Amino acid sequence: MKIALKSYLMKSFWQDFPKPFFAMAPLDDVSDTVFRRVVMRAARPDVFFTEFANADAFVSAGRPAIEKKLRFENEESPLIVQIWGKFPEHYYEMAKAMRERGFAGIDINMGCPEKNIVRSGVCSALIKDPVRAAEIIKATQEGAGELPVSVKTRIGFNTIATEEWIGHLLGLGLDALTIHGRTTKEMSKVPAHWDEIGRAVQLRDEIAPDTVIIGNGDIESRAQGEELAREYGVDGLMIGRGVFHDIYVFESGEVEHSVAEHVELLNYHLDLFEQTWEGQKSYEPLKKFFKIYLKSFPGANDLRASLMETKSIEEAREILAKMPQNQV
Ligand SMILES: Cc1cc2nc3c(=O)[nH]c(=O)nc-3n(C[C@H](O)[C@H](O)[C@H](O)COP(=O)(O)O)c2cc1C
Repeated sequence: MKIALKSYLMKSFWQDFPKPFFAMAPLDDVSDTVFRRVVMRAARPDVFFTEFANADAFVSAGRPAIEKKLRFENEESPLIVQIWGKFPEHYYEMAKAMRERGFAGIDINMGCPEKNIVRSGVCSALIKDPVRAAEIIKATQEGAGELPVSVKTRIGFNTIATEEWIGHLLGLGLDALTIHGRTTKEMSKVPAHWDEIGRAVQLRDEIAPDTVIIGNGDIESRAQGEELAREYGVDGLMIGRGVFHDIYVFESGEVEHSVAEHVELLNYHLDLFEQTWEGQKSYEPLKKFFKIYLKSFPGANDLRASLMETKSIEEAREILAKMPQNQV
């Protein structure tokens, strides 16, 4: 109880942000320390999240794989570590271990809809198990000590249940709550229900005025995010896939970026990847990033096709270096 009260009584860093603030979404296998630093170089959001990191694995032999997801450089601060898992005691232990690492806060994933994950009763399956969800939040708050604790979730499991589910979470002393405006069943197949996010803001005003609300779903530009904040009253906006469409998405104003700037960012990505992960992550999955940088200019498709054939960072650099000067 003492810990839960803390959240109501103490001001957390979440409340210091300008309104509305912008967060980059946790994106598993994408938003590691390298990609976060590339996004920072393009245009930085106010706050970053790690990929989701499993607490059950963290406290067991699975820890080395989890440590990759926890890696970061100080320049990425404020950075929130996102955790998920089955057992409240593992959340407690992981939250406690995160205190000394320099994270600005701990976020709990109650939103992932993947079938094989939901089947074991975790992530968005917790929407159907509010008692366990409360136990997990309490255990995390106890482990986290002074670090703010937040949740990222959806608006229901099979059907929209904003009043019931978001209302429940708002009674648990959270410092922040990110709401992805879809149910689990909807995956990402329908437009986000921003009216429900607006409803959640009203609930917050009634139940927990100190909990910061972050809206998430389908935001493709900063201007669109600002408009949604005006319309629905959220404190912050979270952007995920919008970063794939425009790596400069967090930038203010309408700035056109050249092909050369995009190529420079890709080279920076390759350099950081090599410095950070050489011998620890394989080259192949890096290829999924190429389309973020190389698109919408004559020859982009052919260039990407030849990069997809490469077997190493060195080969990719050679191809980029040979790009005709009139292209860059
Ligand atoms: C490739 C990918 C990985 C994701 N990984 C996570 C994750 O680790 N934790 C999480 O809470 N959400 C994760 N999400 C969901 C996003 O954070 C976000 O809620 C969702 O994409 C909707 O926002 P958007 O429309 O801005 O993309 C992931 C989404 C994608 C596309």
